[in-house]
Amino acid sequence: MPDFKTIDDAGDLTGKTALVRVDFNVPMNEAGEVTDDTRLTAALPTVNALLEKGAKVALMAHFGRPKGKVVPEMSLKPVAEAFSKVLGEPVFFAENCGFHEKAHAFVDSRSAGDVILMENTRFEPGEETNDPALAKDMAKLADIYVNDAFSAAHRAHASTEGVAQLLPAYAGKSMEKELSSLDAALGNPVRPVVAVVGGAKVSSKIDLLKNLVGKVDVLAIGGGMANTFIFADGVAVGKSLCEPDLAGTVKEIQAAAKASGCEILLPVDYVCTKEFKANAANRVCKPGDVADDEMILDAGPQSAKALVDKMAASKTVIWNGPLGAFEMEPFDAATVTAAKGAGELAKAGKITAVAGGGDTVAALNHAGAADDFTFISTAGGAFLEWMEGKALPGVEALRK
Ligand code: 3PG
Repeated sequence: MPDFKTIDDAGDLTGKTALVRVDFNVPMNEAGEVTDDTRLTAALPTVNALLEKGAKVALMAHFGRPKGKVVPEMSLKPVAEAFSKVLGEPVFFAENCGFHEKAHAFVDSRSAGDVILMENTRFEPGEETNDPALAKDMAKLADIYVNDAFSAAHRAHASTEGVAQLLPAYAGKSMEKELSSLDAALGNPVRPVVAVVGGAKVSSKIDLLKNLVGKVDVLAIGGGMANTFIFADGVAVGKSLCEPDLAGTVKEIQAAAKASGCEILLPVDYVCTKEFKANAANRVCKPGDVADDEMILDAGPQSAKALVDKMAASKTVIWNGPLGAFEMEPFDAATVTAAKGAGELAKAGKITAVAGGGDTVAALNHAGAADDFTFISTAGGAFLEWMEGKALPGVEALRK
């Protein structure tokens, strides 16, 4: 575990207020109902630990991208109600309070043991600019600051970075779990490490691929981005999703992999079709056998088996992105086979399997494998930036 102060280091908090940055950027339907409470339940260990220490807890979070303006549909009020249900205690919502005098008076008026939710931090023009004046107003609300929002830690905002400089700052329980799990996957992993990277485009993951080849033993590429690798090797990909302009970048990644002894694992067979739709007629092709009017929508069965074998010979797997068009049957097969394989190995205690970012969680849920993974990050963009090897401002600000 890197060098952070955690809530356990905070001592007795009787008579103190803890300002806690959580990620309550949750999916919500048109009726204002939270449709997935994963991020709400993720905050419970921290909130309960602070309450047990006698604190008053003031939560702050962003919701959507209101860009410094008050947008009523992006109020956190419905989230306060939803969190209250999850917590089993009242949650006092600081309505129309912002972070200035009214907010200070509101927080002061509550008692030890109360849980408060402040209004959307992004209603404040100074949040995304990391305005020191806003950070100062936030800091005035409390005695200590806790960041439990790894998934927002890639943003250098007043609530994630600025305020952490002004109060004693601690990593929350969920943040701690994210950091130690990610450290076990890529920071200080047990080797060999297999990284599985899928998704549509190489262009969106260039930094990530360049970072990984220097860190892992095997880099398995899947999804649309595998087509660009296959194309760069001079193999025809028909009308598949492909970025021919990135052939040079692929060569650079391959050269960097070779230099650091990382094996790049590409599909050795493909599921091809002429139509981009569920249950379209399809066939399994070998490299060089894809016709001009065909597209690759999934890795073939041999490729999925080869990946499972590689994972079985590894000690750590880190996974980001699907291996094919997993939303459309039967083009989900390779993702399902490989995800189940990784899940079974992790469940049997043979490997540590960590996943996160983008539609990875949806793909692993679809495969029924998510619960068997050692750890699934709740983060999207932050997980990707961390896989790129970038320092995350919200994490850096917590370092001792
Ligand atoms: C997320 O949902 O991934 C985080 O809350 C970050 O949200 P943002 O991309 O709007 O900063």
